[in-house]
Amino acid sequence: NRGEYPHFMLKEIHEQPDVVAHTLLGRIAGEKVDLSHELAWTPEETEKWKKIHFVACGTSHYATAAAARIMETLGNFEIRTEVASEYRYRNIPIDEETLAIFVSQSGETADTLHAARLAKNRGARCLVITNVRGSTIHREVGEAIITPAGPEIGVAATKTFTAQITALTLLGMYLAKLRGELSPASERRLISALMDIPGKLATILSKEREIEALARDFADARGFFFIGRGLAYPPALEGALKLKEISYLHAEAYPAGEMKHGPIALLDKELPVVALVPKNGLWEKTVSNIEESMARRSPIIAIATESDEEIRHYTSHIIFTPETEPELYPFVAVIPLQLFAYYIARQRGCDIDMPRNLAKSVTVE
Ligand code: F6R
Repeated sequence: NRGEYPHFMLKEIHEQPDVVAHTLLGRIAGEKVDLSHELAWTPEETEKWKKIHFVACGTSHYATAAAARIMETLGNFEIRTEVASEYRYRNIPIDEETLAIFVSQSGETADTLHAARLAKNRGARCLVITNVRGSTIHREVGEAIITPAGPEIGVAATKTFTAQITALTLLGMYLAKLRGELSPASERRLISALMDIPGKLATILSKEREIEALARDFADARGFFFIGRGLAYPPALEGALKLKEISYLHAEAYPAGEMKHGPIALLDKELPVVALVPKNGLWEKTVSNIEESMARRSPIIAIATESDEEIRHYTSHIIFTPETEPELYPFVAVIPLQLFAYYIARQRGCDIDMPRNLAKSVTVE
């Protein structure tokens, strides 16, 4: 039942503050992360895992891209993130020193399931993050963190992405903690920031009309280019995917610094650039990429941090996101991009909940 909402996608976008709160529930005790109910991990065994492989498809893959960047700030992890259909057929060393984490909303994605079988056969320790208890991948892998996002009806994943990054952040913290790499101060700082996320997401959702107006201004664009660096790159990927899926416009995400190595040739006044430019150590670098894009006459849409007045020198199309701890930036960045894609698609008269050529779960290779 989509209630007052015209589409399931919009309803599911609005459920995200609750979804994050539910995903945290029972996994935090005091100001500490505790996943011992779900993961029978001992500190000794976690030290054996020299390599961490994240394997997934589509939006779930982008959740792992965010997770990898978050985890790299928490401890000394050697992480690779692969799409399942590549992981399966490459010759990637997988062994007893590998912790392989499979992320699948549905738990039925064929490539992810086959990749899990492969890793299991090679002796890796396997874990699944899924939204469906009792799904095929859950039954086969066994060890799991279940995201409690509830059924997602819209074909484009929204609330399940947010649930995944919540679970993955907790997982990263837990692993770093078992290995003695997470200081109690960092743990407290991040837990308290995570608990604030639902409120911050609600703040962004309250700017829906603003985002709708922005989408109206840009609904006739030829396509979109998304740029971001570091923790801003995975939400850029996800924002571009949402647009492609439901508005059928070409949208491409690039690490901002990689633009000049080719894709900048695409830019002109009909190709807007959505720049994710949080106020962090990389702000100047991304702003220099904004300037390069402006020089090619691309309109700029900035996703910027609330306190960032300087960004107004570069564009008047700005969506401000609340400040958060730097590691948690993907949470606040993805919401405006979901809404932007939604309103572009609506403006263009697309079938938002059932986009052409797509199925909710891909059970064939
Ligand atoms: C994007 C989308 C797909 C899925 C992908 C993986 O909106 O829905 O890209 O994310 O097919 O699906 P799961 O997570 O069910 O394995």
